[in-house]
Amino acid sequence: MQDWDVIVVGAGAAGLMCAIEAGKRGRKVLVVDHAKKLCEKIRISGGGRCNFTNIHTTASDFISNNKHFCKSALARYTPYDFLDLMAKYQIKHHEKTLGQLFCDNSAQEIIDMLLAECRDAKVSIKNPVSIKGVHPLPEKTGMPNFSLESSEGTLTTHSLVIATGGLSIPKIGATDFGHQIAKQFDIPVTPIRPALVPLTLNEDDKAFCKTLSGISQDCIASVKKQSFRENLLFTHRGLSGPAILQISSYLEPGKSLCIDLLPGQNIEDELTNEQNKKKSLTNVLAPFLSKRFAQEWVDRKSQNRTPADLGSNKLKAIADGIHKWVITPSGDEGYAKAEVTLGGVDTKDLSSATMESKTCPGLFFIGEVVDVTGHLGGFNFQWAWASGHAAGHAV
Ligand code: FDA
Repeated sequence: MQDWDVIVVGAGAAGLMCAIEAGKRGRKVLVVDHAKKLCEKIRISGGGRCNFTNIHTTASDFISNNKHFCKSALARYTPYDFLDLMAKYQIKHHEKTLGQLFCDNSAQEIIDMLLAECRDAKVSIKNPVSIKGVHPLPEKTGMPNFSLESSEGTLTTHSLVIATGGLSIPKIGATDFGHQIAKQFDIPVTPIRPALVPLTLNEDDKAFCKTLSGISQDCIASVKKQSFRENLLFTHRGLSGPAILQISSYLEPGKSLCIDLLPGQNIEDELTNEQNKKKSLTNVLAPFLSKRFAQEWVDRKSQNRTPADLGSNKLKAIADGIHKWVITPSGDEGYAKAEVTLGGVDTKDLSSATMESKTCPGLFFIGEVVDVTGHLGGFNFQWAWASGHAAGHAV
């Protein structure tokens, strides 16, 4: 039997940050993970360069049943705090776009930094370790609160931190362990689904997108009042690219999204312009949409005639089709391709200052397992660092 002050389950971004902060406070900390290779999500993130934070992070970059929940942790651990840590290790980074910070070299530098910080803080890390059961212990002052049946034998702890992330990319070790533990302790879990995920289409739309596969187009993708102006990417399975990943987090299954394929322009003016009336529709559209896109779009929507052949109603319909392309996806590419899991452990049960359960003292949930989901662009790691930091100061 090994007794610990703190056991963290999950050696990902949130779990390691929590362990470092708790270790620095002199707590005896064990981190366990069932994966053979640690921090795989950090390693593969940002195309191998890890978009580790976003300098413009605010609470409005997160989706949660309680939009205020993340504020306290984000205020106490900001992107600049993480940058200070990176500066200590001289890890070079750059801003790609929209405040998104990436490593210049490799995500491995961040993993090495976190593991070095764990060593300095005397944190023990064991993997692969599987947890077969978690049991509450009778309340006794000074005695541990939980016992864990593990492949390493029985482990007991005063604070138990669940940092097992979401369900995306099961092949690198994602499980619903955190959600199951919440349920075991009667802590509610909000409905979960894949988010930041490519969308799949019905056969007709899919065939169209397939012909455009590889083309990327600036657009505004909208669902109700939420919209994102970024690139859309046509793929042979459907729609992807940053604009689509972002809006997927807001798109309820079975509902439609609206795409403006020419934001900030008025294509109806071009279509009705005297100078263009004898040109083919493809040639009028090509300067704005790329020749291949214009060709396919025109072939699909109408025969390739000249604006002069079409009445103003028809031209308006063509312009509307470009500025307000309404599309109803058949689904999404699921957890195998999703960057994150939307929903999770209900924040109603958690303290926003410490991430501790209000109904089960000593039990903490941090990172992606919680119902706090960031937009694309480094926000999910910032939430992992901030929530891990908050719990690390409380355990
Ligand atoms: P994380 O998933 O990092 O860690 C959970 C840990 O728990 C894992 O080590 C896992 O093995 C372990 N675990 C799970 N089940 C267990 C069990 N039953 N027993 C023991 N251990 C268990 N975000 C961002 O901000 N910028 C980016 O560039 C990217 N890029 C990106 C790319 C891809 C392909 C994906 C899939 C995701 C991203 N993300 C991202 C999202 C980001 O990776 C994610 O939100 C954070 O890693 C979440 O950190 P956590 O520590 O909560 O979970």
